[in-house]
Amino acid sequence: MRVLGLETSCDETAAAVVEASDGLRGRVLADVVHTQQDVHEKWGGVVPELASRDHLQRVLPVIDEALGKAGCELGDLDGISVTRGPGLVGALLVGVQVGKSLALASRLPLVGVNHIEGHLLAVLLSEQAPSPPWLALVVSGGHTSLYVVRSLGEYEPLGHTLDDAAGEAFDKVAKLLGLPYPGGAHVDRLARTGNPQAIDFPRGLSRRSRAAFDFSFSGLKTAVLMHVREHGVPRGQALADLCASFQEAVCDALTQRAVRAARQARLPAMVICGGVAANSRLRELARERCGAEDIALYLPEPRLCTDNGAMIAMAGAHRLLRGERADPAMSADPGWRL
Ligand code: KG4
Ligand code: ZN
Repeated sequence: MRVLGLETSCDETAAAVVEASDGLRGRVLADVVHTQQDVHEKWGGVVPELASRDHLQRVLPVIDEALGKAGCELGDLDGISVTRGPGLVGALLVGVQVGKSLALASRLPLVGVNHIEGHLLAVLLSEQAPSPPWLALVVSGGHTSLYVVRSLGEYEPLGHTLDDAAGEAFDKVAKLLGLPYPGGAHVDRLARTGNPQAIDFPRGLSRRSRAAFDFSFSGLKTAVLMHVREHGVPRGQALADLCASFQEAVCDALTQRAVRAARQARLPAMVICGGVAANSRLRELARERCGAEDIALYLPEPRLCTDNGAMIAMAGAHRLLRGERADPAMSADPGWRL
């Protein structure tokens, strides 16, 4: 089954063609991502109206490019999968309307999928992929959640962030330190030469959240703010030390929770996905802690971790294979919970 996947939920216009054999594994034939980073950079964050307008301008050329790279036309496809939510409503509407129009015009089956399901199943496009069940840690700019993937389509939420997403915390701290947007990768790079023990930042796990596998990063963010207010914006080695100490606090909280959840739910495998999964310390600490607990760790390539159309095609493929079809009245659902 060849599926076109469309993703426009935030600041990436993405289209991909994926070939799924049995719904359990997929192969990427083409994967095109246009990032709006330069549109939003000067504002220090995503501006929803600018995002919608840029999606409108880019979506058709991005789809054309993906089909061209895959060497196929709409008529060669077996279905279309589009992100219906969660995300920015105006941005989502662009993808949903284009998906519906293409499906109608080419008489292809259409399915609307949850963006988080895309992140959860992106690993099925990877060289190394587990079979369900597995524990998934989704860490991106908009989400920080733990799920048990029982089977494809059956996801049990174990915990979420109570405030900021991990990527959001990285970006806000980076902004505070005068680093460009999005700041996660910049903090990661600076942290490499820093001392993670230089500043003892809080791990952001309140007593209330301890039982439920929830996360909290706002206390940590405030601690960084207080530190900067007291000592000024650091430079040189002090900047590297602050980045390393902040990063350590985030990665410690994430991996500790995830490993505990996997152990408690007796899951043999863990997958980390979403943009923050590209973080070098998170990858290292996860390897260390999963290794110590005999949990098989799967870290999809960074390209599959950040927002892309291939993960949406993969999430749609198993639904299309089961005969699921979008209602002709389908619209965007910006607050859709998985
Ligand atoms: O999954 P993604 O591309 O988009 C969302 O769905 O949000 O994730 C983007 C987030 C941003 O917050 C970015 O700063 C963060 O992922 N990120 C990183 C790294 N690379 C990207 N955070 C920490 N370390 C990195 N190396
Ligand atoms: Zn995402």
